[in-house]
Amino acid sequence: MLKIEDLTVEVNGKTLLRDVNLEVKKGYTNVLFGPNGAGKSALMRTIMGFSEYKVVKGRILFNGEDITGLPVDERARRGLGIMMQRPPDMSGIKLRDLVKAVSKEKKDPEKLAENLDMKRFLDRDVNVGFSGGEIKRSELLQLAAQNPSLYLLDEPESGVDLVSIEQVGKTIRELLEDGLECPGERCTRGKSALIITHTGQILDYVQADRGYILCSGTIMCSGNPLKLLEEIKSKGYEECIKCKLMR
Ligand SMILES: Nc1ncnc2c1ncn2[C@@H]1O[C@H](COP(=O)(O)OP(=O)(O)O)[C@@H](O)[C@H]1O
Ligand SMILES: [Mg+2]
Repeated sequence: MLKIEDLTVEVNGKTLLRDVNLEVKKGYTNVLFGPNGAGKSALMRTIMGFSEYKVVKGRILFNGEDITGLPVDERARRGLGIMMQRPPDMSGIKLRDLVKAVSKEKKDPEKLAENLDMKRFLDRDVNVGFSGGEIKRSELLQLAAQNPSLYLLDEPESGVDLVSIEQVGKTIRELLEDGLECPGERCTRGKSALIITHTGQILDYVQADRGYILCSGTIMCSGNPLKLLEEIKSKGYEECIKCKLMR
């Protein structure tokens, strides 16, 4: 569904990502790990098409189509949705109006908000004065309205307290299981996702298929996400830096 080939990305002439290769198959949930400043958010924002990130090499394929040169709204129309790590405040824009505007299927904002306990926020300006957890729920509400086929989730659990994390985790699971198909023994999720996590807490709620470690702007390792997380927890990112030196 998503295929990133040899992607090199610059911002203002500075290389942030180098020769990145990554894939998310239909129905798969993949996880991206990496230390602070590795370029994880930059990768998500490049996939979504934020204009300051210049692709100088490689390409991004979505459902077989080369979307490398497409603007962000065209990517959203094709089914890409992002939950940002730190979304901007939008003074003068009510959450209700934003939810209505992004909903292709004209879903009722009240109904969507009920699930996330966000009804009382609908008539407030987007993110203005919201707490960390409220911002994440606001982002999820917008995604639930947009109903993308590929979710890019940038640290969904950061800044969220332990009680709300359950709500955020369960909502993400529900969103990803929308359109679940079980033709034979094995079920396939209707949605795909790429999730950035430091703690792995979100993996208590969402079953992940493949993990990648990004260090210094390039993918160092990939494999079983829970095994990678264990390695990171016990050894830090040292092993990953070692494999960089071996390259
Ligand atoms: N728009 C930008 N302009 C300049 N530098 C940026 C921009 N976006 C990211 N960077 C830089 O790229 C590096 C990687 O950032 P980021 O992708 O946010 O890291 P991560 O999400 O892995 O913690 C950082 O040094 C950051 O300052
Ligand atoms: Mg980040």
